[in-house]
Amino acid sequence: MPEKINVCAYLRGSMDELLEKISRIRSEIDGFASAEKDVAEHFRIRFIGSSGAVKNLMGDMKSILPEKRKEAGLALNALKKYAEEKYTQLKESVSAAVEEKGHSIDLTLPGNELPVGTRHPISIVRNRIVSIFQRLGFTVAEGPEVEDDWHNFTALNLPENHPARDMQDTFYVNQDPAWMLRTHTSSVQVREMEKGYMPIRIVCPGRVFRNETISARAHCFFHQVEGLYIEEDVSFADLKQTLYFFVREMFGKDIGIRFRPSYFPFTEPSAEMDISCLICGGKGCNVCKYTGWVEILGCGMVHPNVLDNCGIDSKKYTGFAFGMGIERITMLKYQINDLRLFSENDVRFLAQFRNAI
Ligand code: PHE
Repeated sequence: MPEKINVCAYLRGSMDELLEKISRIRSEIDGFASAEKDVAEHFRIRFIGSSGAVKNLMGDMKSILPEKRKEAGLALNALKKYAEEKYTQLKESVSAAVEEKGHSIDLTLPGNELPVGTRHPISIVRNRIVSIFQRLGFTVAEGPEVEDDWHNFTALNLPENHPARDMQDTFYVNQDPAWMLRTHTSSVQVREMEKGYMPIRIVCPGRVFRNETISARAHCFFHQVEGLYIEEDVSFADLKQTLYFFVREMFGKDIGIRFRPSYFPFTEPSAEMDISCLICGGKGCNVCKYTGWVEILGCGMVHPNVLDNCGIDSKKYTGFAFGMGIERITMLKYQINDLRLFSENDVRFLAQFRNAI
């Protein structure tokens, strides 16, 4: 009869299963060999304790055929004894080790490696940029990421309806044109100028936001270091020498450098600075668009309107300003070809900067 055969098969299966479980537990027990105190305790809980593996198996007895129970009981008792003996052995080896060495841990074993994080490449490069300028006497100034219209635009000689406002696609807060995510850290420079001390020699590192389509070359947020130096008789020559120094410290003495005239509403005259392409060595490649040069920063002499807006006498003082994207510098320095890597938090990418300085 089918039912009967099924029941027998189930019961026979249980005995086989039990024996198999017993042999699995035995080999697990054999795997324990250490003179460490917590290993012995771990063993006790795993096998001997009230919810240990051996006790658990006792529960399996009820599914064993009555005529097989004796055999099963003997096998289980043997297992229990085996586990207890092993436990005694482990405890003894712990106390032997303590006696021998004065402690239960082998201090000569190599330690477990702790996985340590790395600095983000953007932080590494920001710190380098800042420290180069600090050696020239610049100090660090910081400001808010949510800005008002005055500090981000108007004070910087970009009055309302100025077409140059479209140069930087802006994220407004709640569509209110009075508040925005800053589009550059020039806003920090305005805040600093308004404080009314002289001379001013600052760098402003920070995150900025622009409404751009995300691609290998652009992102809706990135990082800048901008700089500002105001005193009597600051000239364009000072600007050039400062930036020459910076670029050579950052990229090495052999780097090619050139200035090109440009336009920014807050500086006059304005320029952009290019360096020779580090990817192709100036021969031409897709990074430098086959020109051999890559733009790395914008700069110029602070526009007199900006000084006046911030309460600084533009007849007495002059100054220069510059601004660069940290991502661009990092990409050139480490030959990274996709800007999105910086914000994806892929550990395989980030771990490569473990030894970077
Ligand atoms: N603020 C400019 C930008 O974000 C950079 C810049 C700063 C240019 C200072 C000139 C002078 O693009």
